[in-house]
Amino acid sequence: MTIVAAAGLLVTFAVFDLLLFNVLRVSLTRSLDDSARQAASGVAALINAHRLPTPVPVAPGVTVQVLDPVGRITNVSPGADRLVPLLSRSQAAASAAAHAGRLLDGPAFGIPSMLRVDAIAASDGSLVIAAVPYNSVSDSLTVVARALVAGTPVLFGLFTWVTWLVVGSTLRPVGALRRAAGRIAGTGVPRSDLPVPEARDEVRELALTLNDMLSRLAAAQRKQRALVSDTAHELRSPIASIRAQLEVALDHPGLQDWEATARDVHADTLRLARLAEDLLLLARLDERSASGGGADRSRRAPVDLAVLATDVAARYEGAKVDVVTVSAAREPGPVAAPDGVPGAAVVMGDRDGLDRLLVNLLDNAVRYARSTVTVGVRADGRWAEVTVTDDGPGIPAAGLERAFDRFARLDSARSRDADDPGGAGLGLAIVRATAEAHGGAARLEPATEPPGLRAVVRFPRHLT
Ligand SMILES: Nc1ncnc2c1ncn2[C@@H]1O[C@H](COP(=O)(O)OP(=O)(O)O)[C@@H](O)[C@H]1O
Ligand SMILES: [Mg+2]
Repeated sequence: MTIVAAAGLLVTFAVFDLLLFNVLRVSLTRSLDDSARQAASGVAALINAHRLPTPVPVAPGVTVQVLDPVGRITNVSPGADRLVPLLSRSQAAASAAAHAGRLLDGPAFGIPSMLRVDAIAASDGSLVIAAVPYNSVSDSLTVVARALVAGTPVLFGLFTWVTWLVVGSTLRPVGALRRAAGRIAGTGVPRSDLPVPEARDEVRELALTLNDMLSRLAAAQRKQRALVSDTAHELRSPIASIRAQLEVALDHPGLQDWEATARDVHADTLRLARLAEDLLLLARLDERSASGGGADRSRRAPVDLAVLATDVAARYEGAKVDVVTVSAAREPGPVAAPDGVPGAAVVMGDRDGLDRLLVNLLDNAVRYARSTVTVGVRADGRWAEVTVTDDGPGIPAAGLERAFDRFARLDSARSRDADDPGGAGLGLAIVRATAEAHGGAARLEPATEPPGLRAVVRFPRHLT
């Protein structure tokens, strides 16, 4: 940037200097020509009035010669040459006609300085030649040229130096950013401590944006780490249980109830298998949402949520509580497909995924409900909505969002033995990820009448 600015300055200064010098030269020369012409026309006026004295009266420094029509000198100012005219008759006539002075070499005519010469015709046909010394002008021009030659490089240097300073101070924060980013890259841990410059400029905006990005990356990395450690933790207890049971059994083979051992080990194995399956499913859903959700469109088909909900609820026939799919008659208001319009709560989706979502919600609800679980399906404008309501203890307001976290178990004292019906805390995480993969959303809210918990999942309706 400094080099570009310096090149621009150089051209600007050169053009400016040339222009200044030439304008000065032209205007000074013109004023000199004017004074020569004035002297000549004063003499011409005397000739026209037939009152020209000898010698011709002129201002000091001015030289005048009067040529007769043949080209001989008839009259001169004091000290002027009487024999050699400064201009020939034809040159003088041309100058007079053109109103243009010309430069003459004074020493050739015995005058020490260069001369500006002009001529004017008098009415009797004679020509008055007037010369004024050029040295005042050339001296001024020399002084100006010296000043320009000496001053321009100094100014140029000064401007270039200031440019260099300004550019440097503008780019210094960028250098600091780069160094800090290099340090962060070296540690591999995203920390949002890039230096933010004071100046309210683009570099500051950049630093703020990058810091924001780094803190998001750090949060994502922390979450990922927590997930890995939670997963390992979750795997440890069934594996330890299997190992302990097998070790005890092998140490005392004779005393062992092998069938009971096999059943326990099998139950632990099922827990492990379900955990692995859930983790895999979540990983797939994550991958799909990271790739914009486009990957799995081919598996999507129209699914009627009312039909699906009835199917899934039917599987809970023998559960410890009633599972009912509500109709408008049992719960007034926003329930079921309005007026039984077929296909009113149809969504474009992956049937297996939606089935799993409902199973996860129903598992929870059945586990916590006291007497009844109610499944509702309704269409609401652009949305199709499924609700699963239970009359259990519910979740305190602060936990409603946290329940969706991976490995979230809000009742931490819950038993974790083999016959614990609860999962690893991935159920609601899968519900939310599935809903979002379908362009929808999931939330929990407290239910009233009867008090309990309601899970609400909505999807964009498939409108044909
Ligand atoms: N219907 C409900 N009533 C009360 N608490 C619930 C209900 N559903 C979920 N929870 C709480 O939310 C937590 C997370 O649920 P979920 O993700 O399904 O995990 P999991 O069922 O494996 O424990 C549960 O551990 C439980 O504490
Ligand atoms: Mg669950």
